[in-house]
Amino acid sequence: MDSKRALFGLALWLLMLLLAAHPAASGEEGAFDGRSKPVSALEGAKARPADAPQARRAPAEESVWVSFGREDLRDARWSELGLGEPAALGERSAIYELPVSALPELAQKMHERFHRCGGFFAHATRREAEGDLRPHAAAPALAYTVDQKGFVGPLLSQVKEAELRAAIEILAAYHNRYYQSETGVAAAKAIQARWQQLAAELPGASARLVTHGGWKQPSVVLTIPGSESPDELVVLGGHLDSIAGMWGGANARAPGADDNASGIAVLTEAIRVLGRSGLRPKRTIEFMGYAAEEVGLRGSQEIARQYASAGKKVVGVVQFDMTNFRGSADDIYVLSDNVSPALSEFLGRLVDEYALGKRGTTRCGYACSDHASWTKAGFPASAAFESSFDGMNKQIHTDRDTLANSGGTAAHSAPFARLAVAFAVELAKNSPPASASGR
Ligand code: BES
Ligand code: ZN
Repeated sequence: MDSKRALFGLALWLLMLLLAAHPAASGEEGAFDGRSKPVSALEGAKARPADAPQARRAPAEESVWVSFGREDLRDARWSELGLGEPAALGERSAIYELPVSALPELAQKMHERFHRCGGFFAHATRREAEGDLRPHAAAPALAYTVDQKGFVGPLLSQVKEAELRAAIEILAAYHNRYYQSETGVAAAKAIQARWQQLAAELPGASARLVTHGGWKQPSVVLTIPGSESPDELVVLGGHLDSIAGMWGGANARAPGADDNASGIAVLTEAIRVLGRSGLRPKRTIEFMGYAAEEVGLRGSQEIARQYASAGKKVVGVVQFDMTNFRGSADDIYVLSDNVSPALSEFLGRLVDEYALGKRGTTRCGYACSDHASWTKAGFPASAAFESSFDGMNKQIHTDRDTLANSGGTAAHSAPFARLAVAFAVELAKNSPPASASGR
């Protein structure tokens, strides 16, 4: 009897150990969905012949197509990902089919093995992924000018550290902003409500939720319609989702204070300042909070692709992803890869012309954030980062990405909010007031 009880105790203990290691097996939402799966979700990657059935939409939450840059496959650490043979290989990239639940683990492994953020695109269909195999057309270079100093100058001092800090704190207080969690949806709705409130002073402006097909979390888009060329768009964006850990998924604490509450705070502060400025942009300005960036740039890809197929004219995009951690000597780092060189040069010029701080350049080495979705869709995109890539905040994607771990203030983000104001006005151009134009 005693030995039976001991055996039962041992079995129970082993079960507990198993559940602790794999929360999903306990019925929580997570990487494995409770079905019997291999030890690593990534082992579910299927190698497929290139002539496999085309463009079959993966059943919801079943599988996803992922593309990587060809240079990644030449890296010695590549085999550690355990992805096996790609389904197809192209000049630019390689594509794989994975269970959708493997995405968070893949992002985490890319961080651990490559000491950099993920660098893959996730696609719902094989055909979408195949679009990545060929080189993309470069975005047309436009003439970018700085001639709005009279309007922009006085706005810069209205950017407030306390406003930025409050915005970061509100977002970081959500348990997480994961793309498949209820709090991830609630955070997106709160951002939309705040943007709508701030846009009240801008004629015709409104903020909407953009829902996506394959997951819960919506993106948020605030549109300020242009007065002269409303079909020409200026886009300022950052991702609103957060993520932590390999097994955490929808349940893990992921404050994402730096990555990327700090980027959403920068956009929110720019909207607040522009809302009080009397701005009447000639071109349409759109502020975007993207869903599901942390699992393959999914929200921004869907939006950028949709804008491309609708034939929209996007004259410039800037991405704010991580703005509040001072990890290197300079204040603002302009990204140099997966971007438009002409627009990035302009972004740097804005930093200098408006004396926003010391400027550096850096590269991710792969498609590290949503700017890459726009570049891939053929639009001119740029990005501003808080540090050089080497000096990056090591706490991101953990429960330690808190405001306290970025120094407890939003001081480092302030020049980014000024840059956002300058970018919006210098690219969209303000209409002169009716009296000044003689109307
Ligand atoms: N904010 C990071 C990207 C980043 C990290 C840039 C450090 C510069 C320094 C971003 O949110 C991120 O983690 N992206 C994902 C993208 C991937 C899933 C395509 C990543 O790299 O894991
Ligand atoms: Zn990020």
